[in-house]
Amino acid sequence: MLQADLLIKNAAQLLTMAGHSKEPKRGAELADPGIITGGAVAAFDGVIVAVGPTEQVEEEVELLPHARVYDAWGKVVAPCFVEPHTHIVFGGSRQNEFVMRLQGKSYLEIMQAGGGIVNSVKATAAASDAELLETARRRLDHFARHGVGTVEVKSGYGLSVAEELRMLRVIRKLDALHPLDLVPTFLGAHAFPKEYRGREEEYVDLVVEEMIPRVAEEKLARFCDVFCDVGVFTVEQSRRILEAGKRYGLLPKLHADELASFGGAELAAEMGAVSADHLLKASPEGIKALAEAGVIAVLLPGTAFFLNEEYAPARQMIEQGVAVALSTDRNPGSSPTEATHLILTLACIKMKMLPAEALCAATINAAHAIGMAHRVGSLETGKQADVVIIDAPDCNYIPYHFGTSLVEAVFKKGRKIK
Ligand code: NIG
Ligand code: FE
Repeated sequence: MLQADLLIKNAAQLLTMAGHSKEPKRGAELADPGIITGGAVAAFDGVIVAVGPTEQVEEEVELLPHARVYDAWGKVVAPCFVEPHTHIVFGGSRQNEFVMRLQGKSYLEIMQAGGGIVNSVKATAAASDAELLETARRRLDHFARHGVGTVEVKSGYGLSVAEELRMLRVIRKLDALHPLDLVPTFLGAHAFPKEYRGREEEYVDLVVEEMIPRVAEEKLARFCDVFCDVGVFTVEQSRRILEAGKRYGLLPKLHADELASFGGAELAAEMGAVSADHLLKASPEGIKALAEAGVIAVLLPGTAFFLNEEYAPARQMIEQGVAVALSTDRNPGSSPTEATHLILTLACIKMKMLPAEALCAATINAAHAIGMAHRVGSLETGKQADVVIIDAPDCNYIPYHFGTSLVEAVFKKGRKIK
């Protein structure tokens, strides 16, 4: 008989998020969160050993004397959310730019006038490692309270060899000291530093020739990302950077078509990127290319909300067979929030996704978008016992009751962290 030290049982709905294959969920499958009515999940030593109707799971496992039993009667039990796109390590904050935008300036205008990302670069340079660590730790705590178990974290507020490496080392330390799991991404191509104005190609050289080799040598990142958009990195520059990353084993990701229709989705498809993110302005050809190349679209409706922009055409993407994932894009400029729950509601109201689709997009597809689907994103035997208990009678209730976190308990690798 299987031994268990954790049993979560009697869920009104247990959402397994299990798929028919090891692929991300696409098309009609995105609307199937794998509901087990009256479901249970059992784990041993942080790993799931049984999932199914409560009676069946209780028969399958032998509870150890010290086992924890959690009765989820009337609640939804789901895998912890996965955040596949965040920028949580930075100094300072940018509420002054928020006010400038309220007074009529656009994000792009602020960026082109020398504000935006480079303001956070300045504040990051001024912060000690300890400060960066402590502020990012608090952001992770917020995520944990929202039922998030795994977070991708990008560099990109360094923009020099030393500072980019420092950010990635802070991310590594944070991963070691915090119960949530982090997946690091190198984003040295997030903006051009002020001192490179007029000689942008030289900055691209620096990223390609110095930063990427150092990041790879210290094994500080799994992915290489580029902000490919108007006023930032061109398609050609982005291609060069992502190809260099690939040569060093860093898998490509892209900030694509956020501010303008710019060919970012097409480039993501051409590069065989793991994901293309944002895509507010993606062209119909770009969307088709993503579907054909099997690139995951990471949609960030919090950013469209906060910048007051049109939302990404999620329905069109789903209909065309693109695998869609969701994330907060937590960052100091365009999405200062850790409220994963609100992202689900925005995905429904503003992008016309169904609650079940949004939930799959924020769990199993999000895990695929950062290469973590073998460990997290669904409740299946052999995966980590990352489980969230939500005070909702069914999955539709979760985005319906908006803005309030309904998370009642969070188990990370079987250990209760909330
Ligand atoms: O994902 N688009 C580029 N990067 C962030 C914004 C970062 C910032 O404004 O500090 C984003 O929206
Ligand atoms: Fe981003």
